[in-house]
Amino acid sequence: MTVRHPFRLFINPNHGTPGLVVLPDAGFRRARAAIAAWPGYAPTPLVDLPAVDAPGPGEGAALVRLKDEGPRFGLGSFKALGGAYAVETLVAAERVRGRTDVTVTCATDGNHGRSVAWGARRAGCRCVIFVHETVSQGRVDAIAAFGARVVRVPGNYDDAVREADRQAQANGWFVVSDTSYPGYTEVPRSVMQGYRVMADEAADQWAGPAPTHVFVQAGVGGAAAAVSVHLRARFNPSPKLVIVEPETAACLYESAVANAPTVVGGALETIMAGLACGEPSLLAWQELGRAAFGFMAIPDEAAAETLRWLAGSGHSVGESGVAGLAGYRLAAADEAARRRLGLTADSRVLVFGTEGVTDRAVYDRIRNQLPT
Ligand SMILES: Cc1ncc(COP(=O)(O)O)c(C=O)c1O
Repeated sequence: MTVRHPFRLFINPNHGTPGLVVLPDAGFRRARAAIAAWPGYAPTPLVDLPAVDAPGPGEGAALVRLKDEGPRFGLGSFKALGGAYAVETLVAAERVRGRTDVTVTCATDGNHGRSVAWGARRAGCRCVIFVHETVSQGRVDAIAAFGARVVRVPGNYDDAVREADRQAQANGWFVVSDTSYPGYTEVPRSVMQGYRVMADEAADQWAGPAPTHVFVQAGVGGAAAAVSVHLRARFNPSPKLVIVEPETAACLYESAVANAPTVVGGALETIMAGLACGEPSLLAWQELGRAAFGFMAIPDEAAAETLRWLAGSGHSVGESGVAGLAGYRLAAADEAARRRLGLTADSRVLVFGTEGVTDRAVYDRIRNQLPT
């Protein structure tokens, strides 16, 4: 039985409004061809979950499927698809321009930096990664293992983003960010085109009638927007997309309520480390502000409980990777939320386990209910 936790749900009044093409299909086809040619490429599994807790017999969804990104390229998360692809694209373009001494940089809460560092090693360029105060040592070590220099800076994720920018300008480095803002969209667009491979595989693997609902977690929203664009292209009618964020870092939720990109400040404290972002990505907002059906803000306890529930079902999904499923489980157990989202016993739900165990110590503490 799902333990009930307080959560917020906002139904998007702008859902379905036509808008900009944020990720053109030609860019996705290039990304897919490039990534499928990387050594070790294999689609990650799409698995059926056992009856996910629901309020009563017959009231759950018909099925819930999890796209498990744990095995992705041995890096442990879907982020392997984005940052590394953007590095490859950028370095190739600079070499065409005759530049050989490229240094790439970014801020990260773990997974994106690991991908950028991996891509830099493959592309043969230098790499400097900025992390904020609370990024775990395990995640720092995993980035450094690819030969990147890792610099820890005071403050939160958004402070690390600003420091990476400042240093890049001062030193002539290239920022490979997973978030976009006015005047900086080309690189994050490549990152998001890479993420679409995850959604493309899920659509290929999906057997039977199309999904009706997709619950996907968001930090800056790049992953969720890539999923949104891609599933709209692959399924008609497209599934209802629900964006799930930590209560303390719900910048897309607040943007939806305000109907404009909105920044959330503070320490952004959450165990869902990859989702601790206070500023929505511009490209992500342009897609999700009109394509998302709903937005949820959920507490840490719901993620922790879902991590344990999945572990008990034989699936090792990390604390950021479980958020979409945690959102679904909360909604499924709440009569009003079910009604507002149109969840019924016939619903077919897709969730993305966007990371496996990317930090063993953190994962074990949550799994064993020890303080994090
Ligand atoms: C495991 C995991 N899931 C989801 C996300 C969210 O991605 P985005 O910031 O593009 O919304 C992240 C971001 O770091 C992540 O590490």
